[in-house]
Amino acid sequence: MITIKSAQDIERMRAAGKVVEDTLKRLEKSVRIGVTTEELNRVAEEYIRSRGAYPTCLNYNGYPKAICISVNEVVVHGIPGPRKLKDGDIVSCDVCATLNGFVGDATRTFLVGNVAEETRKLVEVTKECFYKGIEFARPGYRVSDISKAIQSHAESHGYGVVRELTGHGVGRSLHEDPEVPNFYSPRARQRLEAGMTIAVEPMITLGSREVWQLDDGWTVTTRDGKPAAHYENTIAITDGDPILLTCSEALV
Ligand code: MF3
Ligand code: CO
Repeated sequence: MITIKSAQDIERMRAAGKVVEDTLKRLEKSVRIGVTTEELNRVAEEYIRSRGAYPTCLNYNGYPKAICISVNEVVVHGIPGPRKLKDGDIVSCDVCATLNGFVGDATRTFLVGNVAEETRKLVEVTKECFYKGIEFARPGYRVSDISKAIQSHAESHGYGVVRELTGHGVGRSLHEDPEVPNFYSPRARQRLEAGMTIAVEPMITLGSREVWQLDDGWTVTTRDGKPAAHYENTIAITDGDPILLTCSEALV
């Protein structure tokens, strides 16, 4: 069931979303060669709590850390630990925060030092996929119109679109209906309506789109070991342009 948020609900989601956005800015400043993903997790957790919010991922279905940190071939749900970032890595930080009963969810993929040109392009196009997708985030379109726009932009560059994970509704819970796939699915036929709030999150691979789930029950990696990028914002559907709840950047 898709819940429609009131104007007041959306204001609360904006507040949760701002905590997420500001946490990602803090993380960006902390990303450097030699830092461990555990240290980045600590920066994020302390910052989220300092804002009076709760790191939604912590204990979510038993997830053990405050945020997800996914390096290079890790697509999503990497568990922070002793891995040190090195020159040329890319690192996706997926941050969720709950404030006043509402959740914000966003991801950025950061560059570490000198990243190969083809990988930098992957990161850039993954962000473009998000913006291509949300051109259809308005009443009258279907969820699958967002999906198709993301898929066609990624595939026009020869990239892979991960099938096993999708975007999702978000609100009082982290994962609500509808599913928001990054590829065309006939199931995603729901019509978008003002007051829906969704996380749109392209997960795009440089090589094959096939992934593995590691034995830790969380970490998802590419099968071919090539890098993957991830870009995500929580958005609200309105009668006009969508509101980006986790990003104050102007729409481009
Ligand atoms: N943004 C991630 C998602 O939508 C958050 C995962 S939190 C976790 O799946 F606890 F499940 F890892
Ligand atoms: Co999400």
